Amino acid sequence: MSKPKVFVSRVIPSAGLDRIREYCDAEVWPEQMPPPYEVLKAKIADKQGLLALLTDQVDPELLDAAPDLRVVSNYAVGFDNVDVPACTARGVAVGNTPGALTDATADFAFALLCAAARHVAAGDRYVRDGNWKTWEPRGHRGVELFGATIGIIGMGRIGYAMAYRCARGFDMKVLYHDQYRSEKAETDLGAQAVDMDTLLRESDFVTVHCDLNESTVGLMNADAFRKMKKTAVFINDARGPVHDQRALYEALRDGEIFAAGLDVTDPEPIAMDAPLLTLPNVVVCPHIASATFAARNRMAEIAAQNLIAGLKGDPLPAPVNPEVKPRA
Ligand code: DGY
Repeated sequence: MSKPKVFVSRVIPSAGLDRIREYCDAEVWPEQMPPPYEVLKAKIADKQGLLALLTDQVDPELLDAAPDLRVVSNYAVGFDNVDVPACTARGVAVGNTPGALTDATADFAFALLCAAARHVAAGDRYVRDGNWKTWEPRGHRGVELFGATIGIIGMGRIGYAMAYRCARGFDMKVLYHDQYRSEKAETDLGAQAVDMDTLLRESDFVTVHCDLNESTVGLMNADAFRKMKKTAVFINDARGPVHDQRALYEALRDGEIFAAGLDVTDPEPIAMDAPLLTLPNVVVCPHIASATFAARNRMAEIAAQNLIAGLKGDPLPAPVNPEVKPRA
């Protein structure tokens, strides 16, 4: 029996790729850069499965070019790059990788928090640039983490994991804002659900862990930054468009907030002439929060399981649109 044809849009860890190759007739995009949109469209024209990355736009035009497509397995927990209603309308099952990168992403949010609050990246640049002449009593001062108040936007898995680190490791008071109450965070960590204004006003640090959707695009705008403490640190390792990048730049430049740590920008990659990169009080990383060996391997395993289940006509282990029953 012939194997189902799939396109894998980048070389993912062998923890998943080996299984895909075993079960499928897999074409794997070998380049470091993602396939251009038109190339991706051509590649999936005769495929039954697509393993996509967050850099691949899966939209109606792309789906219409792939009449045999049964499953899109996104190698990410976020799926804002996939038009899910368009997939559902065409009977295409969509899967993601929840849980695989929770701890890695929360660890990284905490690392960004330390780095931004305590000038870790700026201090390193200072040394390398040959500026370290002496110990300075008033230089390089930052803000303390222990016992501070953390404001978590989005108390899902990653928000909870970040809250856990802050509450259990650094005795922080946890405020959170989410459309749903998290009984677990409230019971385990004493977290308090508050409205956005209270969170912005009372938090020493504000960290974003929500999905990107219509209600969260531009959520952190000029008005939001103005409401934060002047000593506050802003962290985003979720999705760049949740913050308005111009507004963030101005808030950092004008001292409306103290510092920021970003693993995500809008657009990605950030332009090298972006005003944000001229500021010393922001740490910017290239969307690497999930980049641990363990997390990327787990993501590959789940993405492979989703892809293969969809091709077999089985329910996906991690479905985004469970209402779609994959065609066998
Ligand atoms: C995800 O899985 O959505 C992450 O952003 C990848 O790092």
